[in-house]
Amino acid sequence: MATQQPLPAPTSMRLDSTNIQGDILSGLPKKTEIFYFFRITNDEDFRRRFRNFAPLVKSVDQVAKDRDEIQEHKRKDERLGTKPHLIPLVGVNIAFSHLGFKELKIDDTKLIDTAFLRGQRLDAANLGDKGTGSGDNFVPDWEPAFKEEIHGVILVAGDSHTSVNKQLWQIEEIFGDSIYKVTAVRGDARPGDLSAHEHFGYLDGVSNPAIIGFDKNPLPGPAPINPGNIIVGQEGDASKADRAPWMFDGSFLVFRYLFQKVPEFDDFVDKNALKVPGLTHKEGADLLGARLVGRWKSGAPIDLTPFQDDAELGGDPKRNNNFSFAAERDFQKLCPFASHIRKTFPRADFEEAGIPTESHRIMRRGIQFGPEVTRQEKKEKKTMHGRGLLFACYQSSITNSFQLLQQGWANNAAFPFTEKTPQVPGLDAIIGQGPGRQLSGIDPNNPATELVLTQDWVIPRGGEYFFSPSIKSLKDTIALSA
Ligand code: HEM
Repeated sequence: MATQQPLPAPTSMRLDSTNIQGDILSGLPKKTEIFYFFRITNDEDFRRRFRNFAPLVKSVDQVAKDRDEIQEHKRKDERLGTKPHLIPLVGVNIAFSHLGFKELKIDDTKLIDTAFLRGQRLDAANLGDKGTGSGDNFVPDWEPAFKEEIHGVILVAGDSHTSVNKQLWQIEEIFGDSIYKVTAVRGDARPGDLSAHEHFGYLDGVSNPAIIGFDKNPLPGPAPINPGNIIVGQEGDASKADRAPWMFDGSFLVFRYLFQKVPEFDDFVDKNALKVPGLTHKEGADLLGARLVGRWKSGAPIDLTPFQDDAELGGDPKRNNNFSFAAERDFQKLCPFASHIRKTFPRADFEEAGIPTESHRIMRRGIQFGPEVTRQEKKEKKTMHGRGLLFACYQSSITNSFQLLQQGWANNAAFPFTEKTPQVPGLDAIIGQGPGRQLSGIDPNNPATELVLTQDWVIPRGGEYFFSPSIKSLKDTIALSA
């Protein structure tokens, strides 16, 4: 399938980047980030104090300026031949849960989304999280703090712990006793060359949707999508006509606290290394890992380079997302249906069947947490220190995006429903939860051979659903007017 190239956006579709919170479309620049989960203890006091907090929240426009400043600084270091160093910069965003809006006595029913209105704790069983009990009495195996009532989350991202901590102290001072800290989790980019790689070792943050009316020069790859798939009230938001005006230019934020069992993943990949003529044991192990994810560690998609990594391709944004799992070339030979990236964005599997994908896209903004794997963990092939991904993503409908991706696609062994293969694909190899952890298509030369995954490597330990209002709504709807 030929890659669709974007058309220029009609002027009516231009977004107001001064009104949308920065993390949503630009991604707050983050070497480190704190997600600060709070409960409101006094709504009037909170809303009064919010007047002093609102100016700290960065818009897409301000984040774009920060990014320009970072680039300019990098160029200056290169010009002068000085050792690269980061400039002190922080970005703050905020989002509220349904219980938060309820506490503030703000009617959020027109946000419509049933997952959001119920909250993630009541959705945990649907998502496949482990726990005890059933129905509304299901208790997920989460960290205790995430089982408490959470009203909102403040995101503070920046260049260093010092900058972020300083900003957070100021915020705590602004809110005083009007909020109670439920918990705070810190994410840190991995060190050195691994900074953009998640803990299993794969380059992350490669494929996010380009937005019509925002991305001026979209990279080659999947066609840009209408902004309303991410931004509420914009063109493409299926519930646009039913939204209340204060919801416009906001977006739903899904947070998931995902622990990763890295030594166990590495051990499995090593023990089950694919036996392909011409490849060493280590290359066979790397190939298996790449076929579970759909990309090599460098970010190179296996759809384009099926038998060996190609670091140049992986690091080239003009090429590393320009593929589509086109049917005429692929019978799980290039990329297994159960690989993480094919499960969560099936590209041509949908498009060739005439099924649009854009209403299911998400804008991912996560960050890693926890230390590097220690020598002892490597030796014992066992996780001894908590590490993983603070998964965060934005969308205009949780039910149609995150929830569907996790519950309907990743946890569904029969997905993608396709005539292309006689084999059952199996669950998403990385995030799939539930019975059916055997995958087809993993051995490129014998797609019918099934590989049984002996354990889960991604363990959810908490999360919540939020809504990030526009900058204008923070000032006019959340803050109490003077
Ligand atoms: C610890 C858990 C996870 C890990 C290690 C992980 C890792 C990755 C990696 C390495 C990529 C490929 C690089 C890229 O395109 O950015 C990726 C892509 C992606 N992931 Fe995850 N991920 C995790 C959780 C999730 C969850 C919970 C979801 C949603 C339910 C998700 C949805 C996606 C999507 C939509 C893509 C892009 C697919 C594409 O456009 O090609 N991921 N992930």
